[in-house]
Amino acid sequence: MVSPGVSRVAVIGAGTMGHGIAQVAAMAGYETVLCDVDAARLDRAIARIEATLDKGVRLGKVAETTRDGALARLKPVTGAAEASRGAHLVIEAVPEVMELKMRILSEVEASVEDGTVLATNTSSLPVSQMAAALRLPGRFLGLHFFNPVHIMELVEVVEVDQTHLRALNRAMWFVKKLGKEAIRVADSPGFASSRLGIVLGLEAIRMVESDVASPEDIDKAMVLGYRHPMGPLRLTDLVGLDVRLDIARYLHESLGSEAFRPPRLLERMVADGRLGKKTGRGFYDWPDES
Ligand SMILES: NC(=O)c1ccc[n+]([C@@H]2O[C@H](COP(=O)([O-])OP(=O)(O)OC[C@H]3O[C@@H](n4cnc5c(N)ncnc54)[C@H](O)[C@@H]3O)[C@@H](O)[C@H]2O)c1
Repeated sequence: MVSPGVSRVAVIGAGTMGHGIAQVAAMAGYETVLCDVDAARLDRAIARIEATLDKGVRLGKVAETTRDGALARLKPVTGAAEASRGAHLVIEAVPEVMELKMRILSEVEASVEDGTVLATNTSSLPVSQMAAALRLPGRFLGLHFFNPVHIMELVEVVEVDQTHLRALNRAMWFVKKLGKEAIRVADSPGFASSRLGIVLGLEAIRMVESDVASPEDIDKAMVLGYRHPMGPLRLTDLVGLDVRLDIARYLHESLGSEAFRPPRLLERMVADGRLGKKTGRGFYDWPDES
């Protein structure tokens, strides 16, 4: 039932993304090892997966046998080397820090077979720079999942120049077996999703700045006129204005396009602590979150 050549998966980092990736892998039938340096975080991650699966069962979206099978296939471990041993695919989901990711990847590479595929879930760091740190860069690629992993259908499969076809095919299969849709993208800043999504969000902010329309009406233009499930300003509030500002600065610097220059209004709102839903105020008021 699982992908050719892959029956055992290791996920390094059990935070927001790692626990979700481990959950969907275990649900799809993979023997899944979930690893975190922090034992308390690891416990929380397993409890979170249990709670999500229980909720799925209560709502009739997950079969009891799927929940029980997934939990039986999931193994928590605290060391990255131990977690990776015997794995056919290792996905790192540690914090977005290049040095940390490179260290983890070379530690993992030292404990796996040559045929093991290694992947990063980075959302913005250059995948090719990480590949350069590996003994066998042909085994490496990006698998960019979206949050929350068990709900979001898209995975960006990020190729670098060295990625072997065999590694790419394994990764594409894996994504398919998770019941998700893969798109292939070259390693370039913002991949496909952030690059387009950020442009729309920034332009919407520029329109608020120059009084073209209210945030509500700009969002309605996209929801009703273009059938987007949510307007770009509401989405910016949900993601966090600080997160979007960081991405805009990075894309502006790396792509050199004016389309990514952060609008003054965004910089001012972040400086004022109006970060969106998490602080109770952004382009909208979020009274329950304040
Ligand atoms: N949060 C998102 O919406 C999102 C979406 C797509 C991609 N990403 C990317 O996914 C990656 C992880 O992000 P996150 O939001 O899950 O972060 P997070 O902070 O929630 O989780 C990271 C986990 O890694 C663990 N960790 C740190 N050092 C470790 C080590 N040496 N060995 C094992 N575990 C270690 C931490 O204890 C933590 O539990 C980042 O590269 C991020 O850019 C995040």
